Amino acid sequence: MAYTDVCKKSLLFEGERVPCLVDGKEIIILWPDGGEPRAYDAACPHEKVSLARGDFNGRILHCPAHGWVFNGRDGSSLQPCGWALKEYPLRIAGGMVQVDVAQVDVAAAQPDN
Ligand code: FES
Repeated sequence: MAYTDVCKKSLLFEGERVPCLVDGKEIIILWPDGGEPRAYDAACPHEKVSLARGDFNGRILHCPAHGWVFNGRDGSSLQPCGWALKEYPLRIAGGMVQVDVAQVDVAAAQPDN
C-alpha cells in the first residue's frame, strides 16, 4: 500500500463531490450524506467519460455523458444495474485525506453475471 496525500480533510464536506488528480489518475471523492468519504476512479464504467463534473446530490452521482446513475455510498450503479465504480482505499491520517491508487478492486467494476 502506498497512500498519497490528496487534500486536507477540512476541505471535504458531507454531501459533496471532489475531483482530484492522484499519481496521474483522475479520481473523485464522494462523501455521501450520513456516510464516510470514499474514493473512486473518475472514469465512468460505461464509456470512460470523466465523472469529475458529474452531478452529485449527496446520495447519487449522475454521469454527465449518458446519464448512468451511481450510489454515492458504495459506487454501485443504480441505472443500469450491475456495474460499479472502481474504488480506491481512502484513509484520514494527520488531518489529511490519503488515497492509494495502486489498489483497486477491478472485479467491482464488472457487471454482475
Ligand atoms: S460514459 Fe458515463 S454514462 Fe456513458
